[in-house]
Amino acid sequence: MATVTMIEHIASHVGQEVELRGWVYAKTGKGKLHFIRLRDGTGQVQCVAFRDDLPEDQFELAKALTQESSVVVTGVVKADERAQGFPAGFEIAVTSVKLIQQAIDYPITPKEHGTEFLMDNRHLWIRSNRQWAILRIRATIIKAMRDFMDDNHIMLMDTPIITPSAGEDTTSLFEIDYFGEPAYMAQTGQLYNEANMAAFGRVYCFGPTFRAEKSKTRRHLIEFWMLEPELAFCSLEELMDLEERLQCYIVERVLAKNRQELAIIERDVTALERVVGPFPRISYDEAVDKLEQLHAEATDPEQKELLKIVRGDDFGSPHETALTQLYDRPLFVYHYPTAVKAFYMQPVEGQPDRCRSVDLLAPEGYGEICGGSERIHDEALLLQRIQDHKLPVENYKWYLELRRFGSVPHAGFGQGLERTVAWICGLPHVRETIPYARLLNRSYP
Ligand code: 4AD
Ligand code: MG
Repeated sequence: MATVTMIEHIASHVGQEVELRGWVYAKTGKGKLHFIRLRDGTGQVQCVAFRDDLPEDQFELAKALTQESSVVVTGVVKADERAQGFPAGFEIAVTSVKLIQQAIDYPITPKEHGTEFLMDNRHLWIRSNRQWAILRIRATIIKAMRDFMDDNHIMLMDTPIITPSAGEDTTSLFEIDYFGEPAYMAQTGQLYNEANMAAFGRVYCFGPTFRAEKSKTRRHLIEFWMLEPELAFCSLEELMDLEERLQCYIVERVLAKNRQELAIIERDVTALERVVGPFPRISYDEAVDKLEQLHAEATDPEQKELLKIVRGDDFGSPHETALTQLYDRPLFVYHYPTAVKAFYMQPVEGQPDRCRSVDLLAPEGYGEICGGSERIHDEALLLQRIQDHKLPVENYKWYLELRRFGSVPHAGFGQGLERTVAWICGLPHVRETIPYARLLNRSYP
């Protein structure tokens, strides 16, 4: 009796007969020999069907297999250094083939397809090697993030997705009808995290968040996942320490677990191997100094225009890209202008036009992957800021109350999962970093 196994465990079955269940990635061959490239979701292996080794009808069936037909294949595992596959180095000498369903005219063929076509067929595209590799790396990153939180005694607290008020910029609010009342899809779990922080000390949430981003960019999704830790008695410097350790942990984990996937997507792993602490930390004003210098030195007029910056303005992606290219590892930029950041950020002592915020910019031009800050813990100041931002005070009653009952200095950050995946995988656009991207012009499939 053949042992049922999965391709990722094939190395421990050399010389044995196994049963594999999966789909035909590709099929080639002629005459007496046919090669079925079988994938089962965990890996891919070449199955060699030799006419003399299997019943006539089954050999005919193997010959007629089409791309993405579902099959059960039985055969003996052979180690062979030259065999390609995931993992490499193995092939199957087929002893039987059973067809589950014959696929007809699978639309994604080995020829080149345009991105829009592939996005329309996303429900099938995720079967392709590149997409398979990226989404497996995504799963590793999620697990690493959660393990890091657990190992650092930061407790999981889920926060609501339907919320009565804004957590960030109100222009990106996604409004829904909550039984006749307006409500919003969560832009962040942070405000609830702050309540949870006072109950459990160190908490995190990790869920889908929503922003009605009205522009098409390579960094913005309408629905994205965010990891958000929130810590009591935490300073901005301690927050940066935590963020830095988390990035190193994530990258180390991917390098340990996903070499094969990184090879499939042809990622330059030396760039990832450089991600070790300490990360450079510069203030917003120091960053502007650097940008002014780059602007002055720029010879290409187009580049010069892009690098223009007015001190006090927020950075655009060309600024972030230029800054990250000055370093070989992630870069912290702290103390942004209060005016360009969210209402809840603690001002810098003695310099209220700057706030205790920090963005983490990923290297190789990727830019912001984390945004965080110390939070205002004084009730009067927070109330003032809510009013200044013209937010409806009555909806923030509970949030303000947190500053009345044992208020403590606290800080937290949010890390965008998809931007992290894009950076680690070296992808130019976030659309391939999530199974089903929601974009300005796309909510299908
Ligand atoms: O900088 P942001 O807006 O910060 C917050 O939401 C805070 N409340 C987080 C906190 O302190 N708990 O967003 C944080 C991160 C960004 O750095 C980015 O990686 C990601 O979330 N992000 C997006 N990712 C994809 N598409 C979008 N539209 C995104 N908007 C933010
Ligand atoms: Mg931000």
